[in-house]
Amino acid sequence: MKKIEKIYEGKAKILYTTEDPELLIQYFKDDATAFNAQKRGVISEKGVMNNAIAAKIFEHLKSKGIESHYMQTLNDREMLIKRVAIIPLEIIIRNRAAGSMCRSLGLSEGATLACPTIEYCYKNDGLGDPPINEYYIRALQFATDREVEHITATAFKINELLKKYFLNLKIELIDFKIEFGRINNRIILADEISPDTCRLWEIGTGNKLDKDRFRRDLGNVEEAYQEVLRRVSQ
Ligand code: TMP
Repeated sequence: MKKIEKIYEGKAKILYTTEDPELLIQYFKDDATAFNAQKRGVISEKGVMNNAIAAKIFEHLKSKGIESHYMQTLNDREMLIKRVAIIPLEIIIRNRAAGSMCRSLGLSEGATLACPTIEYCYKNDGLGDPPINEYYIRALQFATDREVEHITATAFKINELLKKYFLNLKIELIDFKIEFGRINNRIILADEISPDTCRLWEIGTGNKLDKDRFRRDLGNVEEAYQEVLRRVSQ
């Protein structure tokens, strides 16, 4: 499968058309951004690691009945995906308080939550992906109520599956962000799931194995991604 035309370039990935109008190639870059791109950098070989990690996670979710846009890995930085119309929502699930939840609510990092939470953000870099609620989603016609119900239930199901998956790898899934897309009147998981889009803490040590190492200048960024890749590959 050959790349034909670049149709989208985001902060971490590029999408290309292929000879098949229903399929795209998703290319993973080494570029890293944080805090709505106020901080920029490069994480060496991140694209290679995230391409492999995301593929492993999509394959695991598929084995548990969660459909995604992932079709197959083409090479070290590219995966073949189904072309979907991305719903402009970033769905964030949290199992413990971290990051922006701590900043906005004055909680301590890692504070226990009695149950998982969900947030919906409007996917718009220019506006800094502002948080919205179901009423905004309905009023702005980003998705129907039935679609929001489906997205919400699927997001919580993915959380349960990934919590277990990472627990087996001695990693605690603290939180993550996912996106969905429409295809043939269905809604499927899209984008990526990787240490860029999750908080992953090593069980026992509490070591951060995710993009917080870059966001907070904690060092050993590449090593953390490598460690996640090593564990998902075992
Ligand atoms: P936050 O604590 O900064 O709101 O992030 C929550 C989770 O969502 C964390 O795992 C990082 C992920 N995330 C993204 O993948 N993309 C984003 O643009 C943001 C803000 C968060």
